[in-house]
Amino acid sequence: MPNTTFSPDALPDLKDKVFIVTGGNSGIGYYTVAHLAEHGAHVYMCARNVDKGTEAIARIKKMHPSAHIDLLQMDLKDLTSVVAAAQRFLTLETALHGLVNNAGIMATPFELTQDGHEAQWQTNYLSHWVFTHHLLPLMLTTSKTLPPGSVRIVNLTSSGHLQAPKGGINFDNPALKDAGDMARYGQSKLANILHTKSLHKAYGPGSASATNNEGEIWTSCVHPGLVETNLQEGVNKSNLAMQGVITVLRKTGMFWSSDRGSYNSLYCVAGGEMKAEQSGGYLEIFGRFGEPTCESKPARDGKLAERLEEYTKEEMEKGALIFNAVISFLDLLPLLALLMMNGFMMLIHLILPPPKASAFLTTYWIPGAHAAGLWAEVLDRTTRVYVLVVSLEVSMTVEGKVVTIVEAGFVETLELSR
Ligand SMILES: NC(=O)c1ccc[n+]([C@@H]2O[C@H](COP(=O)([O-])OP(=O)(O)OC[C@H]3O[C@@H](n4cnc5c(N)ncnc54)[C@H](OP(=O)(O)O)[C@@H]3O)[C@@H](O)[C@H]2O)c1
Repeated sequence: MPNTTFSPDALPDLKDKVFIVTGGNSGIGYYTVAHLAEHGAHVYMCARNVDKGTEAIARIKKMHPSAHIDLLQMDLKDLTSVVAAAQRFLTLETALHGLVNNAGIMATPFELTQDGHEAQWQTNYLSHWVFTHHLLPLMLTTSKTLPPGSVRIVNLTSSGHLQAPKGGINFDNPALKDAGDMARYGQSKLANILHTKSLHKAYGPGSASATNNEGEIWTSCVHPGLVETNLQEGVNKSNLAMQGVITVLRKTGMFWSSDRGSYNSLYCVAGGEMKAEQSGGYLEIFGRFGEPTCESKPARDGKLAERLEEYTKEEMEKGALIFNAVISFLDLLPLLALLMMNGFMMLIHLILPPPKASAFLTTYWIPGAHAAGLWAEVLDRTTRVYVLVVSLEVSMTVEGKVVTIVEAGFVETLELSR
């Protein structure tokens, strides 16, 4: 518990800094956006409902007239919309200093999204993983010319992660249809913690990325405390035990205001007091009596974090939701050979001008030609019709795997009549 006195008043001047907060139209996210904007940041508020988002921005601007906030529409239950929102942001901005993966739902009735994933698993974890994945290159670039700690990611988790199923993540059946609503919430919130550990390992202080000046990002996950928000409204009405707990917490005044609930996120995404050693951590800064402050054993399991990262990458690749192409010179060789061959044919055409020679050049693409490499065939020399068949396969290294992206060829015919 590193700091119990932090308040948003202590935030530094955030002028010229760009932040994204998901689920910014309500609850903890709303106050996170408001305080960042109050301190001069340009904030993108993600909301699935444009009207709700616009109305929330208008309310913040009433409090802080100079607030610079834009809306980024994104529905976490639709992975295509998540990728589109990230891509839209990338066309608008050249820097990103802070990302708060805040949006979430809790203990909702069992439901599959249109992408085929369980709703809490996708909303709370998978979609945020994909969103972050697409924004990471820009965040790394942003950090390269700035002091350490200038670029940060915060994942909202919950002490509810302690209710994840035995073993942590059920890789065979992440939908957990036959488990309880809270077990599904717990699994998704545990995944938020494990995601944090993986990001910290890859890009945090001391990582290869940071040491090789390829970019450093401080990532942390926070339990915001027990906070009065709309989150409780989504809880399955037939989950009487959970409804009972919420009623008792309300009656005993255990819930904090949404504003107070934003403090942990603000400390971690922009607080000047945050230390490099806190990156990768589960921060329960304002822990109070009755709230568990500990991380579960699976949350501290590095092997589980690695396994989840691999699993998620594979799942998202299957759905073509991530695609990071690394093109090497060797990958481009077949393409270069093709261009040279085209040039050669054009040259012959010019060297043998009519009437001594008439030449024509035709190019046909043959999608699906299966031969790799490059070869030429000269056919029917007697009639002096030269047919050149070029076939190629262009492969790229995509996240360590070789993927064929072009499997095509073409035929060129060159007729020379002297
Ligand atoms: N409140 C607590 O006591 C507590 C405790 C531990 C952790 N947390 C975590 O804190 C985070 C914020 O929750 P909150 O308490 O502030 O709840 P909230 O007031 O219900 O806010 C949740 C936000 O997420 C958005 N959201 C939900 N589903 C979405 C979707 N499919 N696509 C896009 N946005 C979506 C909501 O948008 P709509 O308005 O359109 O629904 C809303 O803006 C959550 O990750 C939660 O797990 C909260």
